[in-house]
Order: sequence, then structure tokens, then C-alpha cells
Amino acid sequence: MHGKSSEERNAFLSLLQKDSKTHGAVTREYVGRWNSDDNVGDIESGRETRKGDYMSLVNNYYDLATDFYEEAWAQSFHFCRFAPGESFLQSLARHEHYLAHKIGIDASMTVLDVGCGVGKPARQIATFTGCKVVGLNNNEYQVERATAHAVREKLEGRVGFVGGDFMKINFPPNSFDAAYAIEATVHAPSLEGVYSQIFRVLKPGGVFGVYEWVMTDAYDDSNEHHRNIRLGIERGSGIANMVPRKEALEAMKKAGFVVEHEEDLAQRNVSPIADRRPWYAPLAGDWRGAQTLGDFFWGAADEQCRTGWCWDSVALVGDVEVGAFGVRGNCC
Ligand SMILES: C[S@@+](CC[C@H](N)C(=O)[O-])C[C@H]1O[C@@H](n2cnc3c(N)ncnc32)[C@H](O)[C@@H]1O
Repeated sequence: MHGKSSEERNAFLSLLQKDSKTHGAVTREYVGRWNSDDNVGDIESGRETRKGDYMSLVNNYYDLATDFYEEAWAQSFHFCRFAPGESFLQSLARHEHYLAHKIGIDASMTVLDVGCGVGKPARQIATFTGCKVVGLNNNEYQVERATAHAVREKLEGRVGFVGGDFMKINFPPNSFDAAYAIEATVHAPSLEGVYSQIFRVLKPGGVFGVYEWVMTDAYDDSNEHHRNIRLGIERGSGIANMVPRKEALEAMKKAGFVVEHEEDLAQRNVSPIADRRPWYAPLAGDWRGAQTLGDFFWGAADEQCRTGWCWDSVALVGDVEVGAFGVRGNCC
């Protein structure tokens, strides 16, 4: 489907080079994965099927979405908080730097980026801290784009990307000084499964930091509206099974980590004006939230791409990420 389009610097030009027949087939395959959910009673069995097919589900999704993400969002495929007056790209970078700082990454370390996208967070964190980063990603097209972007920025000596499934990480035990995952492990069919894999490849005492997509404590599974919002987020983002916050924390502990810190960053109120622009503002496409001229144009682009679930999720359930930082157990 992608041919040589990953070599294009500009994602929009890359989008124009797809093989349209394959593109159509991948789209039909993705849409078909959700058909059973038309009958509400089938949602759980549909979810079980998608958990079994998580790899092709995610690959379908990112084969279709990667160029759009790069073009209409950024090369960092995640949300962030906004400080007053800060541009969108600065806010994304600060969110990445914060994670690196919080888990103590320094220049002596080799760090695993779990589900690295097209590698902007890896490039940011390598530049910010001086560390080496290995990015792991299941999607071949994203690995190609991540590699090309790193070469263009002359960072290929410190940032590398490999294909692979984070449910079966293909590195020996004790390979990394630290690991992080930014809005990626939500795609796992089992959080305990992926966290256990990360635990295994971390050196004793190594720290894992994650920005996770979870349902907040307000989620009520007996409420049909809430269930529909959950399903809409899953369908709109290539997610087999999004879980409540408590389940994610339990999974972290079951994997062997000692949880040092856990927080819903959207609830943080550092100063009365700190989060006046909410984390979902760019996705909502509301140009009134723009803080720089560039943001104004971004807002306009995102307006074209926004999806219906955003508003609902904010109002009722929230898919706000929780930052959690776990230390690999038996570290002493
Ligand atoms: C929302 S994107 C975030 C990407 C990146 N962390 C960032 O912030 O830019 C989720 C990423 O997880 C990757 N991913 C999903 N399932 C995966 C799996 N089983 N193994 C490896 N990577 C996976 C996707 O390909 C995608 O790059």
C-alpha cells in the first residue's frame, strides 16, 4: 500500500502516493472489524475477537491514519497540557521532556520507547537528555518514517527504530536502563502482558514511565451511554480493549513494578490559569484556544479531522491519560 511513500518528507505528499486499491481494501477490513457491534449485545464478543486480532487491527489503523496524524496533528502522536502562551509543538515537546525528567533519564542511559510512532518523542528525549533511544513499533511504515526523520535530523547515531510486537519484545532480559511508553500500550490486548514484557527487558532498578489512555473512575459499565463512548474511542483509535484506571494500576503491580507515582495530569491545577486551554482543545478544532499564529492554522486543520467521540469522552468518561512511573522490583 505504501510503496516508497515513506521517503517523502511531507506526509500529505506521501498520502497521495498510496496504492488506492490496497488502501480501499485496508479501509474495508478495518471497518469490518466493528460490524458486529451494531448489535449492542455483541460488543463484548466483538471486543474479545479484536483482542485476539490486536496486531492486524492496529496495523490496519496506522496504515490508514499515520499520514493524517503527521499532517493534521504533528510527528508526536499524543495529547499534552498547555501552559499559557505556549505553542502546540512546544507543549507536545514539554510533555515528552517532563516524562523523561520524571523517570530520571540521563545521558549515560539506553532507553526503550515502547510503541514509538514516527519517533518525534524519541528524538526529543534523546536531544533533551543526551541518552540513546531504541524505538519499538509494530507498524512497518511508521518504522520507515521514523528512521527517515531521524536521518534528516542527523540523530541516527543516538536514535534507532526496530519493528516488533510489544507483547513479545525481542530483546534479552536486562537490556535497558529505562523505558517509556506514550499513549501506545492502550493498544495492547492485555496491559499486564505488555508491562511484564517491559519489566523483563529493564535492568534491575530501571524505571518505566507511561502516559496511559484509561477510563476515569467516573466510567460506569452499566450505563449504556458510557459503554458507547468507550466503544467509540476504541473504534476511532484502533484500540482492542481500553480499561479503567484501576485495572491499569493493578496490571503494573502484577507485572512486578513498584508504582512510585500515579496521577491524572488533566486534574492538576498548578495555578488558576495553568490549564485554561484543555488538553483536548486541538482535537476539538476550536481556534479560539489558539495561543500562537501557528496554532490558529493547526486548529483549522484539526477541525477537518475531528471525530465525534471527543466531546462525549470529555464530558462524561474522559480518556485522559494517567502518568504512572514504576520501578522494576527487586532492585536492591
Ligand atoms: C498513539 S501512537 C503513539 C506513538 C508515539 N508513542 C508518540 O507518542 O508519538 C501508538 C503507537 O503504538 C504502536 N503500537 C500499537 N500496538 C503495538 C504493538 N503491539 N507493538 C508495538 N507497537 C505498537 C503503534 O504502531 C503507534 O505507533
